[in-house]
Amino acid sequence: MKELGCFDYFAIFLGVYVLVPKLYQIWMIIYTSFIVQKKDLKVLYGADSWALITGCTSGIGEELAHRIAQQGLNIILISRSLDKLTKVENDILKKCPQIKTLKVIADYANGGETLEFYKKIYAQIKDLDISIVVNNAGILYSEYYRQLNISQIMEMAIVNTYPYILFNHLILKKLQQRSLKKQTALLNVSSSISFVAGPYQQIYGCTKKFERYFTEALRQENKKEYPNLEVICVTPMYVSTQMTNNLSTKEFGVVNAEQYVEGVLKVFGNLNHIFGPMIHQVQGYFTNIFFELSHYYRLSLHIVNHIIYNECQKMK
Ligand SMILES: NC(=O)c1ccc[n+]([C@@H]2O[C@H](COP(=O)([O-])OP(=O)(O)OC[C@H]3O[C@@H](n4cnc5c(N)ncnc54)[C@H](OP(=O)(O)O)[C@@H]3O)[C@@H](O)[C@H]2O)c1
Repeated sequence: MKELGCFDYFAIFLGVYVLVPKLYQIWMIIYTSFIVQKKDLKVLYGADSWALITGCTSGIGEELAHRIAQQGLNIILISRSLDKLTKVENDILKKCPQIKTLKVIADYANGGETLEFYKKIYAQIKDLDISIVVNNAGILYSEYYRQLNISQIMEMAIVNTYPYILFNHLILKKLQQRSLKKQTALLNVSSSISFVAGPYQQIYGCTKKFERYFTEALRQENKKEYPNLEVICVTPMYVSTQMTNNLSTKEFGVVNAEQYVEGVLKVFGNLNHIFGPMIHQVQGYFTNIFFELSHYYRLSLHIVNHIIYNECQKMK
């Protein structure tokens, strides 16, 4: 047999270098879909502790509030409309009369760019034993940039970013201190668009990438000093909610909020990132591959753009 030369070794190294991350991603799909099991949140984070959920009056946030309450944690409900908050609170208490709830009205689009705004929220919750914080409230206008008006641009820029940097700044110390004694979680809801510079969602996509980068950086900063503080990022693909104009779940890859949250609950105590249920994990994998290819081949760029454009049209 011919002996291997420098070129052969280089080719093998290159193959392994390219393949290992891809194989790791496939393994993660299998691991998160079939091996990781949901944990009992009351046991993990402590009985009588509180979960704070922003944007809890609809879609993913509302479903998360219900599912976490069903596990016996108390819930801080934050959103912009008192009527909707009261309805969600009543629905939760009907199913889980043993838990406590607290409503906080906050419209991030009205003053959410100032620290004072978050200090008022913080003052209402600072004495509670908060074990989970979910930053979920978000807004999307998908349109050509030239067709977005300035108030839509500003609303996305403020609602999708300021709560992350200002509210988290107020609450992080409290979470860090708690994590020295008990498991504690900070979960930020970003989006799979944060992996793709997609057209028609330019501002939204930037804000979601902002959230993901911020979360990943925060995780790195905290993991050594506060190992029991989970800093989690979730990046959904399409979920049928008010935000997506209730896209049909018959569409490939579109799940409803219940199916989505069922997939996401696995992250607590197990993972620091998940796209969502298995179908979102698979889509996330291929989206990343296509987007990487789009740097080199026009066809994949056209495919990515075409898919995003079509979905945006359906959301109108
Ligand atoms: N649905 C998807 O396909 C998808 C995909 C990727 C990422 N995401 C992310 O998932 C998160 C939840 O989205 P969703 O699909 O569940 O959307 P949704 O059903 O529209 O829920 C959004 C929530 O945020 C609240 N909210 C919006 N603007 C607010 C403001 N100015 N101040 C306070 N609360 C505000 C909404 O309150 P109201 O009830 O009053 O409107 C609602 O409770 C968002 O961060 C979104 O970017 C969703």
